[in-house]
Amino acid sequence: MARGWFITFEGGEGTGKSTQIELLRQYLVERGWTVLVSREPGGTPLAEKIRELLLDPHYDPDPLTELFLLEASRREHVERVIRPAIERGEVVICDRFADSSTVYQGLAGGVPAKTVALLNEAATSGLVPDRTLVLDLHVEEGLERAHRRNRDRGGASRIDDSPPAFHRRVRDGFLELARREPERVRVVDALGSPDEVFARVLAELPEALR
Ligand code: TMP
Repeated sequence: MARGWFITFEGGEGTGKSTQIELLRQYLVERGWTVLVSREPGGTPLAEKIRELLLDPHYDPDPLTELFLLEASRREHVERVIRPAIERGEVVICDRFADSSTVYQGLAGGVPAKTVALLNEAATSGLVPDRTLVLDLHVEEGLERAHRRNRDRGGASRIDDSPPAFHRRVRDGFLELARREPERVRVVDALGSPDEVFARVLAELPEALR
């Protein structure tokens, strides 16, 4: 059976990843693909538990502790969910993946790049997305949207609440990744209506999926 596809969405807080992922899921299902949507941290029952710990405002782990937890959840997710689905020929769309650790814990959080790369490699056994779409938005606009969403849901997320300077390093970090790996990592302007942004997402997808 032909190998499937692995597409990830990345970007700062409030950039509209969930909306775009749902639009892409519908688009691909209509064209006959079997699609699996997942997210990180999370994606298996154990990994979702780790997610709860990571986002719980009662704890304040340092970036390296955070990274170990993220990589444990990533290992579970890759081995039990992502790799089997790709091998079944499906399209896996994941809301965040290893690039988030490179950027949040590494470039913005100060964990040495070598350490993040080593742990990402160990957790994924070298699985790299076929395409990564970075939804890019001005930091203030993204944080405003994320805070509104958290208020509506009645909860805050610990990492969303980091200072704006942190989120500016996150944005710059993703743009830097796109410069380093232009074939895989594509920046999509996230300002505009969901349909406008989705047209830009489609334009950056591998041709076989368009
Ligand atoms: P989400 O709000 O996009 O679901 O992501 C949850 C939070 O986890 C978000 O603030 C980014 C953070 N995160 C990291 O810091 N490192 C990672 O490797 C991942 C996957 C997420």
